[in-house]
Amino acid sequence: MNPSISRRQFLRSAGGITFLALAPTGRGLFAAAAPLKPMAIPVFTALPYIQPGPEAKLVPGAEIARLAWQTEGREASFDVQFGRDTSYSQTAQIQRTSRDYSGKGDKGSRFNYVCAFAGLNLGTEYRYRVRCNGATLAEGYFTTRQPRGRKIRFAAFGDNSFGDPSERAIAYQAYRANPDFIQNTGDNVYDAGLDSEYTRHFFPVYNADHASPSSGAPLLRSIPFYTVLANHDVESFLPNTKTPCANFELYADALAYYTNFHFPLNGVPTPTYPTLTHGPEKRLADFKACAGARFPTMANYSYDAGDAHFLCLDSNNYTDATDPALQQWVAADLKGSDARWKFVSFHHGAFNVGVHHRYEQQMRVLAPIFEEHGVNFVLSGHEHNYQRTVPIRFTPKDTAKAHKLHTKDRIVTGDFKLDLAFDGEKQTQASGVIYITTGAGGKYLYDPEYNADPSKWVVPEDNNLAYTAKMISDRHSLTVFDVEHDEVLLRQIDEQGNEIDRIRVTPALRRFAAQV
Ligand SMILES: [Fe+2]
Repeated sequence: MNPSISRRQFLRSAGGITFLALAPTGRGLFAAAAPLKPMAIPVFTALPYIQPGPEAKLVPGAEIARLAWQTEGREASFDVQFGRDTSYSQTAQIQRTSRDYSGKGDKGSRFNYVCAFAGLNLGTEYRYRVRCNGATLAEGYFTTRQPRGRKIRFAAFGDNSFGDPSERAIAYQAYRANPDFIQNTGDNVYDAGLDSEYTRHFFPVYNADHASPSSGAPLLRSIPFYTVLANHDVESFLPNTKTPCANFELYADALAYYTNFHFPLNGVPTPTYPTLTHGPEKRLADFKACAGARFPTMANYSYDAGDAHFLCLDSNNYTDATDPALQQWVAADLKGSDARWKFVSFHHGAFNVGVHHRYEQQMRVLAPIFEEHGVNFVLSGHEHNYQRTVPIRFTPKDTAKAHKLHTKDRIVTGDFKLDLAFDGEKQTQASGVIYITTGAGGKYLYDPEYNADPSKWVVPEDNNLAYTAKMISDRHSLTVFDVEHDEVLLRQIDEQGNEIDRIRVTPALRRFAAQV
């Protein structure tokens, strides 16, 4: 155990499961220990993991959380109980769907299980127990979302799971931060968002049985992991085109985003620009049966926690952020929230100065909506490094290229107002939206030579405006936010645990209004 973690903290986070009768057998698989062999317990392809409930709003006494797990496709009888203590006074209803995950060298089918813990209080710890064929396999606990007025802490990072050592180190640092939840900024799993890739690279790292920089950490068993759809979730093309799609002809286990996660279904019910699919009808039908109402609605969603509201958007290059239906939904969602602080997350950074993706600016057309409805931070990835802008107010001028679907040339010009007085230390009232790129979650780094050279932190497409206040590209890192009623503290933490950036933000209603 790291000496900087108190025993209480260690037990709280690592204790998400206090008993586990399953042992790793390699490649992300877990089997019952020898004494349980006669019980014919199936191999687990994902240990139990906590998922958000369907409710976006915080309603005392009506909170719902979920527990999901996955096994090989072999019949078994599960039952799950939960309650405030180990008497486990309530029984959860379990749903089961199945997925074929043939592809990329894997073959077979699996069962995806999920159950709901309903009627919960906010900010309260609950315990759960998972049994199979009468044998107890796991006992754990989780804490429900904090109500308004209570402090929350969350960790954000993206571009992470591909089996790299830094992915595990960042997972470990996220665990050390003891967050209430993770908000991922996309490209959560490489290369193609497949179920089999989740089994190898995601679940074993963020739901590792032990915490260490070389193994990851037991996060998922006790806290929710939110993410957004990104390019590596949809990394194939319609035949003979450059139109991105999820190709079920190549991979039966494509689009695992829609089958592994259970986010609120409050997004645009039928997006104008949904995730495109291609492949044999039977495979598509099997996928849709498993995903249910989640596909395609769950491409966008929102939720609350403590004094914050979070809006998660699909920014892939098959979408068009100038779409009036999307813009109306975004505006209505933000306007409808009474949260003190508002965060938006999508993958393709709207304002970034990196070499690889700075032309994919389509999401900046939403900047006026974010400003009008009091968004404080926008969190993105795509660039594999850390970038923080000064507070920005932006009025788009030429949005013609924002419509250029399926391309990487989506430059949007416009007028900038930069709050150069904000320093996050003495001047903490931000007049504008702070855009954070936090894509240094594990995959190899971009632009390491930019790290010590602020003269490179400008791009000609934006008239070399100095809107980037900080860029750290020589190491992997994650962002930790503490959100209280009157302050948000941002800390950037590297994979060694060092703090490499820090700003405080306080409410800026008066200052903002004075400049309108
Ligand atoms: Fe990306």
